[in-house]
Amino acid sequence: MEKTFPEGFIWGTATASFQIEGATREDGRGESIWDRFAATPGKIRTGETGDPACDSYHRYPQDIALMKAMGMNAYRFSIAWPRIIPDGSGAVNPPGLDYYDRVVNGLLEAGITPYVTLYHWDLPQALQEKGGWGNRETIEAYLRYVDITVSRLGDRVKHWTTFNEPWCISLLSHYIGEHAPGLRDLKLALQVAHHVLVAHGEAVPVIRRRCPDGQVGIVLNLEPHYPATDTEADQIATQLGHARFNLWFLDPVVGRGYPQDAWDAYGDCVPTILPGDMETIARPLDFLGVNYYSRQVSHDPAGGQGRVLNRRDDQHVSDRGWEIFPQGLYDLLLWLHTDYKLPKLIVTENGISLRDVVVDGRVHDPARIDYHRQHLDMLLKAIQAGVPVRGYFVWTLADNFEWAYGTSSRFGLVYVDFATQERIVKDSGRWFGRVTRANALVD
Ligand code: FCB
Repeated sequence: MEKTFPEGFIWGTATASFQIEGATREDGRGESIWDRFAATPGKIRTGETGDPACDSYHRYPQDIALMKAMGMNAYRFSIAWPRIIPDGSGAVNPPGLDYYDRVVNGLLEAGITPYVTLYHWDLPQALQEKGGWGNRETIEAYLRYVDITVSRLGDRVKHWTTFNEPWCISLLSHYIGEHAPGLRDLKLALQVAHHVLVAHGEAVPVIRRRCPDGQVGIVLNLEPHYPATDTEADQIATQLGHARFNLWFLDPVVGRGYPQDAWDAYGDCVPTILPGDMETIARPLDFLGVNYYSRQVSHDPAGGQGRVLNRRDDQHVSDRGWEIFPQGLYDLLLWLHTDYKLPKLIVTENGISLRDVVVDGRVHDPARIDYHRQHLDMLLKAIQAGVPVRGYFVWTLADNFEWAYGTSSRFGLVYVDFATQERIVKDSGRWFGRVTRANALVD
């Protein structure tokens, strides 16, 4: 079968401010919830903080050159709110805006289209002190930050996403407690999710006003759910898991409201919704960003009376234990297209963490090449089936600060020696250079 991608296909890598920038106290940047969380003993496996990460605050020209060398025509990165407004809602910090100006200009000079994420988890700590996303007033602060940022960059940046992965912002961070601010309260987590979705909807017209020829979307982390067996209990558990993980975020955004089964299952923990909220959340978008890493296989041995297990294949996994399941990307894209008919889909993250090592100045990572080849194969199949997927962003450009894993989890196409900040393009990065230039899957 023809392995060529459609003309104009978007090839990029994705990053997030806190994971790459370092320089957390430079040029007036305020503290974020991730600075506070990382400084709390026991929260990051390696005991590291956001400094120096990849030191991209200083080394961004080198990183742009690396993208260019790999033939990437787009770059997805996020803006650190505490660089723009250090305490979240007060004075603007001009050097913060200047920094992103330089990044954007550098990208455009290199022929790389910027895709900007306005929120990839680094909330100003001062806002957390007032309740963070659990406090509805944070929405106003976010809208002001968005207005200021898009006003400054919107003449050159034409692709905007409001939020990265609301599931992680809410459930993972406020219920499971694995990410900042590290809380464990289901009711709060669902209220946070609701406020984030309202903030998303409110931001859409702000972005359109400041960047009338721009495109606006949101990025969701979605995982197809499959039953482990054909028992009724497994089918029900699968549907409920799917509703909680995927539909809870997707359905409101497309105007279908929260899924009823998950709403009922959450009981007293459901969020408070104000009149008009659901209409706000459902404002039309230009594209949906899809982050795909793995799947869920639901097994409910106790028939609704106990814990639902995730029975995914534990042989084909990354070094973090995430199952490698390329078919899931196809199933996910097809489901999205069949059920929602969205105008445009972009895979905004896909990648694998491996135990990479340097041997004679090279990093051989055939497993990463395999991973991307198989996923791109599925993506092509989805395109051939009529799904409007317009781009693919690799997570990630270079090894970075992987949240609770610190720098122990390497996803990059470029290896980073964190002691020296030396960068080495991995074999996968070289392979991508050939793929992007051919705009086709090559060997
Ligand atoms: C996603 C995040 C991204 C990165 C990858 C591995 O959930 O958006 O920042 O950590 O996982």
